[in-house]
Amino acid sequence: MISRRGLLYALGGPLLAQYEESPGEVPWVPSDDRKIDVMLRMAKVTKDDVVYDLGCGDGRVVIAAAKKTGARGAGIDIDPKRIAEANEAAKRAGVTHLVEFRTQDVFQAQFSDATVVMLYMYRSINERLAPRLFSELKPGSRIVCNQYGIGNRKPEKQWKRGDQKVMMWTVPAR
Ligand SMILES: C[S@@+](CC[C@H](N)C(=O)[O-])C[C@H]1O[C@@H](n2cnc3c(N)ncnc32)[C@H](O)[C@@H]1O
Repeated sequence: MISRRGLLYALGGPLLAQYEESPGEVPWVPSDDRKIDVMLRMAKVTKDDVVYDLGCGDGRVVIAAAKKTGARGAGIDIDPKRIAEANEAAKRAGVTHLVEFRTQDVFQAQFSDATVVMLYMYRSINERLAPRLFSELKPGSRIVCNQYGIGNRKPEKQWKRGDQKVMMWTVPAR
């Protein structure tokens, strides 16, 4: 498991300006706009999707999905400060009719109505969530990870620029 300082160095550059400890195991480091774009395109998000971001920070991924595609979405974060910021950001973006944010531990959260789940958490946390993701999401749902994969699972799609990565898996038919 990478340390918080290790995460910062792995993420690098301008993102270091935006970092805050969290009551959860992963600090808040926001996804940058370019990667959000890659994540939405990789999952082929449309207005018919329901996009969840588990560990949503200030809600930027779910809000971007709503603004760019009209998709509905939900963000879950353990830090109430982030959820307050997400609600404010959704108002500013004019997407409160499409998105909702909840202060909750992702391990207690319900997300079975998602058709796309976004994750920017450590690999070990993604791995702990994986059994629920692959059993509770409908077949065909996409799981997109920013930077850290799901344990050692081989991704179906991968984007790489330098040390920056985005990976995707599709929930198979049962
Ligand atoms: C690296 S940030 C990613 C933020 C956002 N997903 C993005 O891409 O901009 C990780 C976020 O996960 C939250 N978090 C950490 N552990 C959590 C948990 N167990 N349940 C819910 N949120 C958690 C943190 O508060 C932080 O906001």
